[in-house]
Amino acid sequence: MKLKHIVDTKQFLDRKLIADIFKRAERFEKSERQGRTSKILKNKILASVFYEPSTRTRFSFESAMLKLGGETISTESAGQFSSSIKGEALEDSIKVISGYADVIVLRHPDADSAERAANVSSVPVINAGSGDGEHPTQALLDLYTIKKELVRIDNLKIALVGDLLYGRTIHSLLQLLSLGKNVEIFLISPNTLALPKIYLSFLKSHTMKFSEHNSLKNILKDIDVLYMTRVQKERFSSPKLYEKVKHVFTLDKKALNTLDKEAIIMHPLPRVNEIHSSVDSDRRAAYFQQAKNGLYIRMALLELLLT
Ligand code: CP
Repeated sequence: MKLKHIVDTKQFLDRKLIADIFKRAERFEKSERQGRTSKILKNKILASVFYEPSTRTRFSFESAMLKLGGETISTESAGQFSSSIKGEALEDSIKVISGYADVIVLRHPDADSAERAANVSSVPVINAGSGDGEHPTQALLDLYTIKKELVRIDNLKIALVGDLLYGRTIHSLLQLLSLGKNVEIFLISPNTLALPKIYLSFLKSHTMKFSEHNSLKNILKDIDVLYMTRVQKERFSSPKLYEKVKHVFTLDKKALNTLDKEAIIMHPLPRVNEIHSSVDSDRRAAYFQQAKNGLYIRMALLELLLT
């Protein structure tokens, strides 16, 4: 199947396509280890258009493009430093940028932004995070990390912890988890940050085994993957509401005593208080490798879209 744009995660609900992407990512990872370079995207330009802050997604996409022989142009804080500040509509900006670049990587606060951009762009648009909606390329690198660390995407028990309401990485990852057989999901959040109905309906319609909880206690011992997330401060309408839940789940060394020896700890990052730095040296901590894996997945996606 030829991908034109990457708008949402449902485009990837196909094990064959996932296997193809992971094979490409593994090839790029191996090439890097062997010090081999590639020029497959020579003369191609990637435009990164970020209306919201980013460290991993933006740098890994730009690095991926450069490593494949391409070039990058970019605007960070696009709401402030692009003509958006003068009132230009997203659609107009994308129409114009698609005349200057071969692919557009877009992060925007509106959940429907990637779709709107794809509708008017003459070049592929990649959703690099759409408000409290989705983050499909993050979900791909998350599943790739699970596959690499645990050597399977089937027979998994995974706890998704933290801000399930606004956490776009959660919304995308749980869809990809439906590709696995015998996957059980533990949804752990305060009541005020519970998973939206639309994603609960997704889990039900895909006959996925899941349960909702307010505490991690009694769950740590049963899981293969602990996926922590940050409470998304920037999405709250009131600072008071954020203050109530900001430290609700914090993982320290002591809490890890009950986590299975073979389990892995993931986090899309950035972290704030969810994982204490003392956990970083634990061999189950996979979050920095997870961030690194984003580079290979994004190289694979650029190859898939542009060659
Ligand atoms: N995981 C993630 O999207 O990180 P950034 O916000 O730094 O891109």
